[in-house]
Amino acid sequence: MKNNIFVIETKNTHYAMGVNDKGVLCHIHWGKKAPVCDYSVSAEWERNSNHSELDYISEEYSPFGSTRYRACAFKCEYFDKCRDTVFTFKSADEREGALDVTLEDKAYNLTVVLNYRYSKEHDIITRFVTLKNGSENAIVIDKLMTAELTLPSEDIYDITNVNGSWAGEFQLETSPFKAGSIRFETHRGTVGHVNSPFVILSKNATEDFGDVYFATLGWGGNFKMEAQRDFIGITRVTLGLNDFDFSLVLKAGGEFTTPKAYIGYTEGFAEMSNQMNDFAVNNILPKSFAKEPLPVLYNSWEATGFDVNTKGQLELAKIAADIGCELFVMDDGWFGQRKDDHAGLGDWYVNEDKFPGGLDELIDGVNALGMDFGLWFEPEMVNEDSDLYRNHPEWVYHYDTRKPNLLRNQLVLNLTMPEVQEYVFGVMDGMLSKHNIRYIKWDMNRPFSEIGAPNLENQHDIWYLHTKAVYDIADRLKEKYPYLQIEACSSGGGRAEYGALEHFDMAWTSDNTDPVDRLEIQRGFSMLYPRKSMRAWVTDWNSSSRPVSLDFRFNVSMQGSLSVGSNLLKYSDEDIDKCKHYIDFYKKIRPLVQFGKLYRLKNYQSHGMYANQYVSDDKSRSVLFICSAATSFFNRQFKTFNLKGLDENKTYRVKMHDGEIVKSGAYLMNIPLKIRLYNPLESVIWTIEEVK
Ligand code: DGJ
Repeated sequence: MKNNIFVIETKNTHYAMGVNDKGVLCHIHWGKKAPVCDYSVSAEWERNSNHSELDYISEEYSPFGSTRYRACAFKCEYFDKCRDTVFTFKSADEREGALDVTLEDKAYNLTVVLNYRYSKEHDIITRFVTLKNGSENAIVIDKLMTAELTLPSEDIYDITNVNGSWAGEFQLETSPFKAGSIRFETHRGTVGHVNSPFVILSKNATEDFGDVYFATLGWGGNFKMEAQRDFIGITRVTLGLNDFDFSLVLKAGGEFTTPKAYIGYTEGFAEMSNQMNDFAVNNILPKSFAKEPLPVLYNSWEATGFDVNTKGQLELAKIAADIGCELFVMDDGWFGQRKDDHAGLGDWYVNEDKFPGGLDELIDGVNALGMDFGLWFEPEMVNEDSDLYRNHPEWVYHYDTRKPNLLRNQLVLNLTMPEVQEYVFGVMDGMLSKHNIRYIKWDMNRPFSEIGAPNLENQHDIWYLHTKAVYDIADRLKEKYPYLQIEACSSGGGRAEYGALEHFDMAWTSDNTDPVDRLEIQRGFSMLYPRKSMRAWVTDWNSSSRPVSLDFRFNVSMQGSLSVGSNLLKYSDEDIDKCKHYIDFYKKIRPLVQFGKLYRLKNYQSHGMYANQYVSDDKSRSVLFICSAATSFFNRQFKTFNLKGLDENKTYRVKMHDGEIVKSGAYLMNIPLKIRLYNPLESVIWTIEEVK
């Protein structure tokens, strides 16, 4: 700190802020580095009666009130009904990798600490805010964002989020952001499939070059990212808990910490994705498995649906083990009176008709085959047709005057009630303590409605408390069973984001397992989320209407955490041999895919095909997946590739699908290689190995 200027230094960037002569904490810079002594706060002034000084200042964290007329980061109401907040700089605490800046509203003894965590390993800054009510009165907080961001120039940035749906998650949408405001958010209680809690703002950016600013929120409940471009062309973003139907009562002496956001600046999208992949492995994912490759799993859902029983599952398990799966997960259908989706949710006891004598025969059988066993739960839900609902109709969110809306015939349990939390923890704990279950798939298949929680004094708390309860239960289970891996699922990818990924080891990406659709879904996912957390099943989905070879399906799924979901009982000997071949191959390249660098060489929009190259950190090994996503023969012209991420001075052997070459890294990265795919929906793999 020098003259109240604070500079955060990451691997390649500076993030600078400073206090002006009125005590306002102003944003100075975010991006490439300059000598620290050059940073200063520029003076601003009222230009005319309609444009105040504050219109021209970019505050680091702006409260509602005064002569500010843009979306703010913070809004509250004090005991005397005053809704105008004045934050001035109080103090700063700078330590290795940490900066905490405290602002205060002196008149009401409210302080907000802006917390920054960073290192020189990455260009990613973790941000959160801690609010402290030092007064003797309660304060009602109406808006409390995790961060406010200011982009450096008045240029027009492209803004990217996703515009998805169930079975169509992570469809990237980019548009120039010229004026007004744009919001990406959810009101559903969970993240859902439409928007994802991130925003990317880029300028003249490609995979390799150009300014890329990104921010992603670690929160799986209602979130909001709002970008605004003002009358002088400054683009600002606020992100955090959605202020829709939000209010938090901060009691006298109370303290509240927001969810975390991860923000960064990189040159090009590839660097953004690779930094976030590495950052997530080292800093976000639960420590127990973050650095371990995830197992190849088999999941029963697409093969057997609700029709699960010991014999059928063991038949599948035998083949799953034979082809090389390391984990067998039994999905929906094993509990209560679960024959279809009309009954049973909430009754987490084993259905004895399907599993006479319990689950141990199946679990022991799976273990004897050399695989771990995993089990599906949907812990936040209940069917009306269940013992749990008959015994505790008051345990769901409800209003006495409203008829509850069922979605998939189910209601949402009121997880803000301590007794419901205990029940949910208890049933899973009970199963884990009695059986050798090492993996849970935690599903969540509907958004909230009729959100009454009579147990709460402040009803608006449900959005926050529900999500927090989910995380608390997952943490408790992982603490008690350190070997347990948990997969976050919400009708596919409705919970694939960093809130969940701080507590769950991975996420189910989409219920859509059509391999061609998956390529685009996976591209969107790969932008900011870690590849190892992307569960990717090989299935037979859509196989009659758009047949795609088993090779293609494996080539797509091997680009995440490979899994199998097909009905293996129907596979020919030739198919089984292919499964063995690809699973064996995947185990060899798994560290590259899950932990290496990813270069997206081609995508469908620009080239009618996808080509993704994964490179080990030491640049000695690489694998390239090339998938023609086009259905037309017109596409069979040749394409050219420059490989990326290799060492110019090393020599590599490139094993292509139709030959082999030995060339320098410089050659492979600078001279385009040609490929012809002769058929629509064809895919091939190339491997690139250093020759010593
Ligand atoms: C939705 C999930 O996304 C599917 O994978 C499967 O687990 C079903 N629920 C089971 O009901």
